[in-house]
Amino acid sequence: MVLKAETPALPKAELHVHIEGAAPPALVKRLAERHGLDIDGLLDGQGRYVWSDFTGFLNAYDRAARVFRAPEDYADLAETYLLSIAAEGAIYAELTISPDHAAGAGLSYRDYVAGLAEGIARARKAVGIEARMIAIGVRHFGARAVEQVVTQVLAAPHPLVTGFGLAGDEREGHPANFARAFRMAGDAGLGLTAHAGEFCGPESITATLDFLRVGRIGHGVRALEDREVVARIVEDGIALEICPASNVALGVCSNLRFHPVNHLRRAGCRVTLNSDDPPFFATSLGAEYESCARTFGWKSGDLIEMTRNAVKAAFCDETTRARLMGRITGFVSANAGT
Ligand code: ADE
Ligand code: ZN
Repeated sequence: MVLKAETPALPKAELHVHIEGAAPPALVKRLAERHGLDIDGLLDGQGRYVWSDFTGFLNAYDRAARVFRAPEDYADLAETYLLSIAAEGAIYAELTISPDHAAGAGLSYRDYVAGLAEGIARARKAVGIEARMIAIGVRHFGARAVEQVVTQVLAAPHPLVTGFGLAGDEREGHPANFARAFRMAGDAGLGLTAHAGEFCGPESITATLDFLRVGRIGHGVRALEDREVVARIVEDGIALEICPASNVALGVCSNLRFHPVNHLRRAGCRVTLNSDDPPFFATSLGAEYESCARTFGWKSGDLIEMTRNAVKAAFCDETTRARLMGRITGFVSANAGT
């Protein structure tokens, strides 16, 4: 199969995209006007988000999130995002959702999830894309806040909220602080993932695996600094949610050419490709597949492997997983020999 890497129909899957971080600036501007909110300084003259380092990015993210005030705002956002990646070939996505950010804009957890679920249903009906949600706690809000998120999730179970995770500033809060929250989520059957090895080194990944018992790591790129950590990731079958453009934009890596994704893959890690906060990092899921193919010489078979890795590690039921795998296999058979 010698399809071009940019072939839109090549099936793609995304495990790591923050829904507020996927907000197109034009939508944020429109909602700010609708709700009479001040977003002065959030966007530049070309309508791009303004930020300069990780802390500045997190602040800009918080400000963008504040304009989403009603369930319908989130329905629009989820639908818009899912349609955009479906147009690039995505068959599945997990949206990272942040109940703390919704609460900051005055939305209850139930209304937040109901709005997002409506957007997911609309996109599914329109183009057949499948999606789930991962509720996250924000580590720099502290262990109590993270536990409150799990408590809310467990008090109002929703069939599309299938995972629990940890995001925010990795430089704050040892993973042990969040062990109780993760135990509660894991005991309730939610899939577990946490950002680690993005701004802190391999020791952060080790502690995350030890204390939070996750099956996936958000980023994990700094594993490459310690062979034993890489070996553990391979041995335990931990899936890595790699977000190349995010790492370059935030200065975790100097350039895509020097990004560890290819080495991690060669070492046997289960690598997936993701966009994290696409408009902040001038990327998209399709762009991630395409730029990695171009930079590392990956062929369509390599890209299909990323999608299969993502579906294998997805926080979905087995019927959905089998259906998604069938779509991938169908694509491969239809394009064999082309
Ligand atoms: N929240 C949104 N994007 C994030 C990232 N790249 N790291 C940590 N928290 C985040
Ligand atoms: Zn992230």
